Amino acid sequence: MQIISTTAALTAAIDEAKKAHKTIGLVPTMGALHEGHLSLIRRARKENDMVVVSIFVNPIQFNNKEDLAKYPRTVENDCQLVEETGADIAFTPTVEEMYPDGEPKVTYHFGPIEEVMEGPRRPGHFSGVAVVVRRLFDLTQPTRAYFGEKDFQQIAIIRNLLEQIKYPIELIPCPIVRADDGLALSSRNMRLSPEARAIAPEIYATLQQAVEMSEYEDVDSVCTWVVDTLGSFHEVNELPNGLRFEPEYFEIVDDTTLQPVDDWEASPTGIVGCIAVWLDGVRLIDVIRFRPVAE
Ligand code: PAJ
Repeated sequence: MQIISTTAALTAAIDEAKKAHKTIGLVPTMGALHEGHLSLIRRARKENDMVVVSIFVNPIQFNNKEDLAKYPRTVENDCQLVEETGADIAFTPTVEEMYPDGEPKVTYHFGPIEEVMEGPRRPGHFSGVAVVVRRLFDLTQPTRAYFGEKDFQQIAIIRNLLEQIKYPIELIPCPIVRADDGLALSSRNMRLSPEARAIAPEIYATLQQAVEMSEYEDVDSVCTWVVDTLGSFHEVNELPNGLRFEPEYFEIVDDTTLQPVDDWEASPTGIVGCIAVWLDGVRLIDVIRFRPVAE
């Protein structure tokens, strides 16, 4: 495997692959890799002649400076994992290499799909994601690009971006990978204290119960129940050091338009519930499918 950190060297490697008519799979990441990321790389490995994994903590998608500063950086270990997983190139650029003219001026707009959930809470986030992903698309000219459904809204944004820029790239959404206790894997999990990590699986457990409830309760009641259950967890359970869940939002939405639904039959394609919860100073997100219900 090659570790490449300049855009010039990457472009040269891609040109060569294109000349040999190789298909290219791109897996964009911000590093601190875990099994969730690796599942994307494995899928890309199966489906393409060449696999490029980018590792770049993209400053312009962080609306919170502290989150950017605290974001785990483990590049050496990441490169080893990428190699073991069978990728051909780990692309590890610096900020200057990605944005040689300074912070990009361009902004992207996505209409209603960015006006819900993460959008209003993280101003500029999705535009920053779109800028870096487009830059990675330009540099690697992938046949396919792999994204995880953990960041459900991000997938809708990338799909919309591809429609806007009209690049013939196949977007491959990949299922969420969870720890054995149900917690969705995330690079941010390593910032949780042991006590917080121990109760974090409550998020997914609550979402699973919500799916059961959806068989007999309406959308509004289920929504309120999820927020109340997590929000009052510390009142019902004895937790150390003032530990508590602080739900930021839980929204039950159409899986294509991402607009809130008020009825379980409201969507022709499907319904998911997306949540963001603060725990121990860490912002965790998760998503669960309500309709169609898994067999
Ligand atoms: P990052 O959070 O590093 O995630 C990289 C990719 O891994 C994303 O597509 C994300 O959805 C996927 N992923 C993360 N955790 C996962 C899990 N538990 N199961 C399955 N897939 C998972 O998302 C980003 O980086 C950035 O926004 C990026 C797209 C790289 C642009 O900077």
